[in-house]
Amino acid sequence: MAFNRLALAVALLAVAASAAVISAAWLDHVPLEIASKLDSSSNATARFATDYGGVTSAPPPAAVLRPSSVEDIAVLLRFVHGVETRVPVAARGNGHSVHGQAFAPDGVVIDMAALGNSGGRRRINVSTEGMYVDAGGEHLWIEVLEETLKLGLSPRSWTDYLYLTVGGTLSNAGIGGQVFRHGPQISTVYELDVLTGQGELITCSGESNQDLFYGALGGLGQLGIITRARIALRPAPARVRWLRLFYTDLDNFTKDQEFLISKPDPIGFDYVEGEVMLNHQSVDNSTFYSNQAVESINRLAAEFDTLYFLEGAMYYDSNTVVDQKIEGLLGELNFVPGFNFSNDVTYLEFLDRVHIEIQRVEGNSTSSTRVFHPWLNLFLPKSRVRDFQIGVFQGILHNINPTGLVLLYPMNKNRWNDLMTATVPDEEVFYVVGFLWTAATVEDWRSFGALNDEVLGFCQQHGIEVKQYLPLYTSQGDWERHFGSVKWEKFVQLKRRYDPKALLAPGQHIFAV
Ligand SMILES: Cc1cc2nc3c(=O)[nH]c(=O)nc-3n(C[C@H](O)[C@H](O)[C@H](O)COP(=O)(O)OP(=O)(O)OC[C@H]3O[C@@H](n4cnc5c(N)ncnc54)[C@H](O)[C@@H]3O)c2cc1C
Ligand SMILES: *[C@@H]1O[C@H](CO)[C@@H](O)[C@H](O)[C@H]1NC(C)=O
Ligand SMILES: *[C@@H]1O[C@H](CO)[C@@H](O)[C@H](O)[C@H]1NC(C)=O
Ligand SMILES: *[C@@H]1O[C@H](CO)[C@@H](O)[C@H](O)[C@H]1NC(C)=O
Ligand SMILES: *[C@@H]1O[C@H](CO)[C@@H](O)[C@H](O)[C@H]1NC(C)=O
Ligand SMILES: *[C@@H]1O[C@H](CO)[C@@H](O)[C@H](O)[C@H]1NC(C)=O
Ligand SMILES: *[C@@H]1O[C@H](CO)[C@@H](O)[C@H](O)[C@H]1NC(C)=O
Repeated sequence: MAFNRLALAVALLAVAASAAVISAAWLDHVPLEIASKLDSSSNATARFATDYGGVTSAPPPAAVLRPSSVEDIAVLLRFVHGVETRVPVAARGNGHSVHGQAFAPDGVVIDMAALGNSGGRRRINVSTEGMYVDAGGEHLWIEVLEETLKLGLSPRSWTDYLYLTVGGTLSNAGIGGQVFRHGPQISTVYELDVLTGQGELITCSGESNQDLFYGALGGLGQLGIITRARIALRPAPARVRWLRLFYTDLDNFTKDQEFLISKPDPIGFDYVEGEVMLNHQSVDNSTFYSNQAVESINRLAAEFDTLYFLEGAMYYDSNTVVDQKIEGLLGELNFVPGFNFSNDVTYLEFLDRVHIEIQRVEGNSTSSTRVFHPWLNLFLPKSRVRDFQIGVFQGILHNINPTGLVLLYPMNKNRWNDLMTATVPDEEVFYVVGFLWTAATVEDWRSFGALNDEVLGFCQQHGIEVKQYLPLYTSQGDWERHFGSVKWEKFVQLKRRYDPKALLAPGQHIFAV
């Protein structure tokens, strides 16, 4: 059964509460080179037993490693591979998982950020001839962008939020509004350095050590730690015309999204996403909307149960062309007349929009109020979007007061490489549905968790073959179903080869010990 997240979390909470302090005798035997870089103070370990999800649900690690070089991590991995005690290890990027995927109960969490900080120099090299960037796996995408922009270049595919690490998103997929054209971030990688579970550093690509390369992309941290990625670049545009178009019905909304993702470069938008505003949800004034726009959107929201907005963006260097292109495209779309809103921003302002908005809302307050994020992200086959709408948006979620965002936008399967571990539905076009809930209390967190389980239950009951993105399953049967038997077999073999003691990223709950 797929829907036991809540049970799992509750069980883990109980374990955390009752866990006695386990004496980690192995800690006394760590190699000298890294002994001073391991921090077992409860201050440090507690911080690494919680993540963006907000619920501390597992025993803390015995220690945190703050590596100053890739070799430090290799030394740790060789050590834990050699000792008799089972010492799980997890790389922690920016801790932006929401279900403890970067935890290592009673083991070692590697604070990847320490790598990039050591020596004060970023581990990011741009090649203008090769049109690629070599970036340390610990780096945030915003840092990669800052470095490439200095040379007028940019990666092609982006997540909505750039304060995520290269190694963290490449272990999942890295999705956003550019996926329909460039594929997810994992589709834009030429080469990786991966430290295997045995502490061996392997350089891999589509040509050499293929199995590890494809296996690690979307590999949920199971096969090794990504210490470097070579990522494809393109020229960075100067500016972006950024639009939001409102719809009162699903059909026109999805038809227009699908129309836009079928348009080749340079005719269509460079970015296509969308959101669902449930139950008369209103918009706040943000940097995006004028106060007048806010008023008219909220009048529309009061009238209709559900609103949809398509978010599009067109990159450009010269004003005259973009105006014509957009005028032409808008003429082919069926949004509510007059409900098109636009902004004109720099490329950096566009890509960093979520962070800019968060800063605007939160100001400089270092508010300590805890917020929980019981998120659920799904890939939904296009043929079932209507069924999902009826059963979930108009059914299960009919009476809830949504706190957070609901994303809904399509992608093309042909931009994904099926050799990679990342798994998507078996249909040419599929949608991402992101329930990005915000909960103020543990009780709310539980209710959203229950709602998420209901959504998954509805899909299972009606044969809607969704795939979870940033998946959370707890039984091998569920994982096998997630990957499909062919991919699962391959993954198991790779695991045996590259992490035979199953020590890496135990927070994914894939390989039992
Ligand atoms: C506000 C917000 C917005 C987001 N927006 C998007 C989005 O638009 N698109 C999208 O695709 N995702 C998005 N995400 C999800 C994000 O991609 C995941 O949280 C992802 O795990 C990256 O986060 P991280 O770098 O902090 O990794 P962590 O959460 O620290 O780690 C994730 C997993 O990868 C492993 N790992 C970390 N580093 C490495 C490494 N170098 N090598 C191997 N394994 C490693 C960890 O052990 C863990 O299992 C968002 C998350 C948040 C909180
Ligand atoms: C532990 O954390 C607290 C709060 O952040 C801090 O005041 C204290 O100095 C820390 N203790 C150690 C030993 O680092
Ligand atoms: C960047 O280049 C320097 C100098 O050649 C090299 O030592 C370093 O390993 C490179 N870093 C990455 C992440 O490729
Ligand atoms: C938000 O909108 C309200 C009402 O329209 C207005 O009074 C207020 O000044 C706006 N705030 C900002 C920051 O624009
Ligand atoms: C969908 O778009 C068409 C064309 O503009 C319009 O006639 C129709 O009313 C729209 N449907 C709904 C439900 O708004
Ligand atoms: C909305 O679209 C119309 C028609 O293309 C255009 O003239 C108008 O400027 C657009 N409004 C905004 C706010 O972009
Ligand atoms: C945040 O801090 C910066 C510099 O300290 C300041 O310029 C800015 O106005 C502050 N912003 C808010 C919203 O308080």
